[in-house]
Amino acid sequence: MAAKKVVIGGGTGFVGQRLGELLKLHQYEILNVSRMPGVNNISWSNIKKTGLPLNTYAVVNCAGQQFMDFTKSWSPGFKQNVHNSRVYTTQALADAINKHYKDKKPVAYVVITGVGAYEPSDDKRYDEASPAATGTDFFSKLVVEWENAAKVDPPVRLVIIRSGAVLGRWGGMIKNMFMPFYLGMGGPIGSGKQFLPWIHIDDLVRLIHFAIENPEVKGILNGVAPQVITNEEFTKAFAKALNRPAFLPVPELFLNLLLNPERAMIMTKGQCVVPKKVEDYGFKYKYPHIEDACKEFSHLFPKKT
Ligand SMILES: NC(=O)c1ccc[n+]([C@@H]2O[C@H](COP(=O)([O-])OP(=O)(O)OC[C@H]3O[C@@H](n4cnc5c(N)ncnc54)[C@H](OP(=O)(O)O)[C@@H]3O)[C@@H](O)[C@H]2O)c1
Repeated sequence: MAAKKVVIGGGTGFVGQRLGELLKLHQYEILNVSRMPGVNNISWSNIKKTGLPLNTYAVVNCAGQQFMDFTKSWSPGFKQNVHNSRVYTTQALADAINKHYKDKKPVAYVVITGVGAYEPSDDKRYDEASPAATGTDFFSKLVVEWENAAKVDPPVRLVIIRSGAVLGRWGGMIKNMFMPFYLGMGGPIGSGKQFLPWIHIDDLVRLIHFAIENPEVKGILNGVAPQVITNEEFTKAFAKALNRPAFLPVPELFLNLLLNPERAMIMTKGQCVVPKKVEDYGFKYKYPHIEDACKEFSHLFPKKT
């Protein structure tokens, strides 16, 4: 039997690469949509001009300019890049799906967005039925446009995974904070009391695979671990896994000055997000607890697999 082909926008990134590895283990064939040439890559202009490959089984979008790239200032041009790299790529894949041959449509379109869809709050609890923010800050406005760009016609199942901070050794938040924590210079951000919705990278890619494979899965999913934690609780768990102290708080004012308050709010504010629908569908987490997740990525060098 021919391998099932999955087209992954941003398949070269932290999430996309790990997803590709998992899907290959399950006998899928992977094709990345990328700005860079490569053996398994096609370009975005190719997707726009010629559409999806004929026998595409599913499409996933994990593309997006990293907004926590500390080498880039929070300028209007950079913000536009953060926006366009998500909204336009999501739209380009949705258009390609909608234009694809009627009887050869992919089974699912899975788009990874963020928990920025929910307004930061110290007391609200958000499950998938909760109303999303109406777009008052940069990130919630972005998520509204991003998710609107994902619309695909039936029978293609649209699954939007609103991901929390993706925790893994080689990307996202952990890549940025590994060294300070490893050197014993880590600490909570601001008061540390803000919620930190999180998911281990292995669970996020397993959830994407689950969404592709299960015909009943559709709509919004909260891509977060079931254990709700604060930034302070994460700090303690990560420091413990590294066997280091973490007593050096990072003042909110310092982050605001360094990153711009609009961008810093991703770290200084949070929301309590629970994966109710994910658990109702019967998805089982490999890393439901932060202590176990932190143990998995608290190593300096690549682990032998
Ligand atoms: N990591 C997290 O903690 C986290 C949390 C919530 C949501 N998410 C979302 O999940 C998605 C994947 O995250 P990630 O951590 O895997 O990101 P990543 O490692 O930065 O990879 C994203 C990929 O997007 C592509 N990309 C970057 N800039 C682009 C641009 N200007 N135009 C088109 N494509 C561009 C790149 O592919 P090429 O260089 O091959 O073009 C890159 O490999 C993102 O949309 C992110 O917002 C991530």
